[in-house]
Amino acid sequence: MTDKPLTLLGIETSCDETAAAVVRGRSPGPGEILSNIVFSQTEAHAPYGGVVPEIASRAHLEILDGIIARALSEAKIGLGELDGIAATAGPGLIGGVMVGLTTAKALALAGAKPLIAVNHLMGHALTARLTHGVEFPFLLLLVSGGHCQLVGVGGVADFRLYGSTIDDAVGEAFDKTAKILGLPYPGGPAVEAAAKNGNPRAYDLPRPLLGKRGSGRAGADFSFSGLKTALRQLAQTGISVEDASASFQAAVIDILRDRTRLAMEMFRRDFPQGVQGNRLVVAGGVAANQAIGAGLNRLCAEEDFIALIPPPRLCTDNAAMIAWAGVERLSAGGAGDALSTSPRARWPLATGPI
Ligand code: KG4
Ligand code: ZN
Repeated sequence: MTDKPLTLLGIETSCDETAAAVVRGRSPGPGEILSNIVFSQTEAHAPYGGVVPEIASRAHLEILDGIIARALSEAKIGLGELDGIAATAGPGLIGGVMVGLTTAKALALAGAKPLIAVNHLMGHALTARLTHGVEFPFLLLLVSGGHCQLVGVGGVADFRLYGSTIDDAVGEAFDKTAKILGLPYPGGPAVEAAAKNGNPRAYDLPRPLLGKRGSGRAGADFSFSGLKTALRQLAQTGISVEDASASFQAAVIDILRDRTRLAMEMFRRDFPQGVQGNRLVVAGGVAANQAIGAGLNRLCAEEDFIALIPPPRLCTDNAAMIAWAGVERLSAGGAGDALSTSPRARWPLATGPI
């Protein structure tokens, strides 16, 4: 194996962002982002208060070629100079995943390049290596619109699930709360802004599963649906939107801190020697929330962990993280995946690469 840096094109189409990026580097990072184009379809979905799969896949199909061309030209890289083509192969909305993966297969075939079928969650999980070159192992809190998980990451193919949501993802809870309170979509930034002017102790909302330990490894599970139901009932009584947003956000912070503290215990047991200073990496769109970031930073100070939160542009869905996951797979000596690889609507992280 040589140490020559690898240059990969990444493609991301699993939800409502159409994205392409060119990244250069080698494990363990950090890597260099040569281009990172993200087209958000938020406006197309906003009237419906959530992502409409049919609209999303059509939009990906219409604009993906142009986004890829821009990513290559901004990076000043031709197809022939790439070491591989990485694309999200799941989990996600299947129509969108098919568009991105099929495009990647065509480019890989035309350019005689390896195809790397990337698990979207692995992209989020490894972003802190792209940005900071974080060594394994680390604890990952993945909080987005579709996912809410605590994972011990021991290596590129070593993911240990400590907890996941038994109902809504945390970003979904923000989006539903915004809808209940009459705030715009996407709900996370709107609820965070409203919460800044509210009293977090105004309403006593439930904290489901707080202090509870599930059986088996995945013991640090999350639940948000009870919180959302309580808020819906409260909203019928005529309330302050600012106070309700602040009270909701405070409950979310309590839940995330409690569950992460439990996962830290599991992580210490799995990786007793660790590296100097255990690390907590927070990824996914919800990691952009500053109040949540502050709450997790406090927890890390209490538990002797170092918190690492990639910049918002790399926390939300993007293709740089997909290209980077490809760099990691090829750096580890992988040859890429077969052109017959199928897209997957569901693909738990703990099952590893295809
Ligand atoms: O990672 P992401 O861009 O897409 C998914 O893979 O889901 O995450 C989007 C989610 C949305 O639910 C959005 O409301 C939430 O992240 N979000 C936030 C904030 N910014 C985005 N939630 C709370 N506070 C924020 N500032
Ligand atoms: Zn995501």
